[in-house]
Amino acid sequence: MNLVSLLRLLPLILSPSLLYPVESRGGEKDPLLHPLSGLAHHTYVRTGKRLLEEQSQKRVDLAKGYMSNSDLEKAMKDFTQRCGNISRMYRIGKSVKGVPLWVIEISDNPGKEEAEPAFKYIGNVHGDEPVGRELLMRLANWICDNYPKDPLAELIVDKVHLHILPSMNPDGFSLRKRGNANDIDLNRDFPDQFFSVNNEMGRRQPETRAIMNWLRDIRFTASASLHGGALVANYPWDGTEDRRRSYFPCPDDETFRFMASIYSRSHHNMSLSKEFEGGITNGAAWYPIYGAMQDWNYIHADCFELTLEVSDNKWPPANELPTIWEHNRKSMLNLISSVAKTGIHGKIFSSETGRPLPGSVMIKGINHTVKAGRAFADYHRLLAPAEKYEVMATMTGYKSKTTIIRLEAGPMALDFILDPEVSNGEHRLESVCDCSCTTGGSGLEVMGFLWNSHLEVYFVLVIVLAFVCILLLRKRARLSFLRHSRQQGGGPKRAVVA
Ligand SMILES: *[C@@H]1O[C@H](CO)[C@@H](O)[C@H](O)[C@H]1NC(C)=O
Ligand SMILES: *[C@@H]1O[C@H](CO)[C@@H](O)[C@H](O)[C@H]1NC(C)=O
Ligand SMILES: *[C@@H]1O[C@H](CO)[C@@H](O)[C@H](O)[C@H]1NC(C)=O
Ligand SMILES: [Zn+2]
Repeated sequence: MNLVSLLRLLPLILSPSLLYPVESRGGEKDPLLHPLSGLAHHTYVRTGKRLLEEQSQKRVDLAKGYMSNSDLEKAMKDFTQRCGNISRMYRIGKSVKGVPLWVIEISDNPGKEEAEPAFKYIGNVHGDEPVGRELLMRLANWICDNYPKDPLAELIVDKVHLHILPSMNPDGFSLRKRGNANDIDLNRDFPDQFFSVNNEMGRRQPETRAIMNWLRDIRFTASASLHGGALVANYPWDGTEDRRRSYFPCPDDETFRFMASIYSRSHHNMSLSKEFEGGITNGAAWYPIYGAMQDWNYIHADCFELTLEVSDNKWPPANELPTIWEHNRKSMLNLISSVAKTGIHGKIFSSETGRPLPGSVMIKGINHTVKAGRAFADYHRLLAPAEKYEVMATMTGYKSKTTIIRLEAGPMALDFILDPEVSNGEHRLESVCDCSCTTGGSGLEVMGFLWNSHLEVYFVLVIVLAFVCILLLRKRARLSFLRHSRQQGGGPKRAVVA
């Protein structure tokens, strides 16, 4: 090695954060996209490659104790047999080499749409980071073993739909390499908000396409992918507009910091990190990447995704897996349950028909819209606790409604009842009734009967009944508050913005 190349290597040797990319989220393949100069970049990738070659011999032995792809499939099938009443198994696509991408769904009503948040975990995005797939099978089994006696297991099964894809990159796993069978880094293969790196759908990898189609079918509130090579919870944005390395917050920066901290603080020692304050990092502040899965999730699928680096060693000896699982167990469970235990949840209704409206919810000052579901118009808006939020519900053809709330650490239930844009006096009256009765659930039939008769005679009666309905509703709200308090040890109120 001559002096020049030594000098080129020097900054890399001295700066651990520059070496991390090779070890974890990954160095760039495309020199054009790399934030560093071409020179440094080349040295850096070569260093990484040499490291990999040196390690490849060791890895043959390291694979011992890890599930092979067929072991994994069998473990998943065994799981869904053993825990059949709270799970199902389905396929979202195939890898380049035709290995099925199996998913386990865990819920008290697997496969059925419910007015509940959904969460997904994805493991083994990078083929040579196999810890995630092992942890995820342990997670599934733990939930099954501890349901319903453990409160977290119970909450996850009863109030969340959990979807687990243990391996997104089975080909990379069996080839013991980072990319898929076509040597593409799947965490660079999604459409990017700044650079059209790979925006030709035809060139997208089948594994990536499977994820994108999956997110069209299921509305996930939040998710995380599991990686190895560092110990940190990474959140969007992953890429900067100018390709420079710097903290680049997304509109929901506070929310993401809150979620990432739930993971790091529940972890054995992630939050004690010397390199990352609190064990969390903005992706671009660490090193910018483009075409990443987490940014795409937030932008296009309304899903708050984290990228979790769960062990410094990418491929630790299998006998360390039980310890790594113990270190991550609470974090993994708490992150899932955060989609039900924090944030604002509710439904949007029409005051005219009482039907659910698939509208949207916005928070003043945060440029990100969360959509309500088509079937139940339920929305799940994750948010960090704060003194004051201005929450607005919208739906085309309806008048928006806004309310100001204070959000504690626990969840808040908040329903909206929207009035149609064009409404005459009669509809107004009807809407007074509807807003109380649809949620109150009583007296609606009587009203309908009366309404069909003499309008003038019953005019006063309608108002009186509406008043009674409102009283009932308030009582119900109080009861439901008490019920919630008893169930969850205090906190959540169900509020209605009518
Ligand atoms: C599933 O079966 C177990 C054990 O038989 C039972 O405790 C549990 O309540 C069942 N869960 C559901 C959602 O039916
Ligand atoms: C966390 O604990 C593991 C295992 O005990 C150790 O190897 C690692 O260095 C620790 N990391 C931090 C940031 O304390
Ligand atoms: C909000 O975000 C969108 C992209 O999602 C962007 O086009 C728009 O300019 C942003 N608006 C504000 C006020 O920042
Ligand atoms: Zn990775």
